[in-house]
Amino acid sequence: MCVVRIARTKAELRAARKALPGTVGLVMTMGALHEGHLSLIHAAEAECDSVVVSIFVNPLQFGPGEDYENYPRDLDADIALLDTTNVKLVFAPQPEVMYPRQPLVRIDPGTIATRFEGKTRPTHFAGVLQVVNKVFNLVRPDYAYFGQKDAQQLALVRTMVADLDMPLVIRSVPIKREASGLALSSRNAYLSENDRIAALALNQALTIGRDAAAHGASPAQVRERALAYLTAADGVKIDYLDLVDPDTFEELPLVDGSDGPAEDSYDAHEEHVWEAEGGAPAYPTRGLLITAAWVGPTRLIDNMEVEFLGA
Ligand code: PAF
Repeated sequence: MCVVRIARTKAELRAARKALPGTVGLVMTMGALHEGHLSLIHAAEAECDSVVVSIFVNPLQFGPGEDYENYPRDLDADIALLDTTNVKLVFAPQPEVMYPRQPLVRIDPGTIATRFEGKTRPTHFAGVLQVVNKVFNLVRPDYAYFGQKDAQQLALVRTMVADLDMPLVIRSVPIKREASGLALSSRNAYLSENDRIAALALNQALTIGRDAAAHGASPAQVRERALAYLTAADGVKIDYLDLVDPDTFEELPLVDGSDGPAEDSYDAHEEHVWEAEGGAPAYPTRGLLITAAWVGPTRLIDNMEVEFLGA
């Protein structure tokens, strides 16, 4: 039995939104819902009187040759899962409802979007912020919940909300993992049995880096150890693995804890070494270890917070 109300048009959404009591929490999704989405919904339910879920595979955030056509879509299964929650309203528009024509006014996501995911997917974040902005305007939530799994997306949404003075609060929700450590993702559906085993190396590499930091390793050592592990892993082709500031996605200075910038064996590091004017770079207290890698035909991302003991 379906207890969730489904709005398919903007008019239906507006009418249903008006009837929602109290504070409204929004969870934006592209469907193919899993436990990770449920953790966002539960966070919203714990804080808000009403929760709205949007389900829309946003064509603007897919580049040419990406998986827009094949992205998993199963609205019935999604609604069945939402029926196990307290979500009362789902916004599930077709592309022509969201984009009756190609939008002329676009969101420029700025420099954060040029790094990492943005290098491999140059139009991705502009498309994400376009749809996030539209859905915020349509739903007018008090809170919106985003997963830490898409850490760069989260940083960009936070930055947009701050820079444009958007009247809502962004909450982040920790990554949900399988018992094996694999981060939940709708794209895990593409993984073969062997790919699923190979994919465990992402979480393992990040864990090695985080644990090294907890035992006193420097930023340079943390990055080096995580990268060495993932480089050696079977069936994994690294797109990037790096240590960044979680808000700006700038690479952390690869200080080694004693003499300023570390000498290390990776050429790619050279452009990352940051020197403070007139001295050694500051030793960071925390960072985010991020990676993207191809496992078979599937590109996966993962990340982990790292705390440094100090120089
Ligand atoms: O994270 C996602 O699933 C998408 O990027 C989002 C936020 C729903 C926008 O399409």
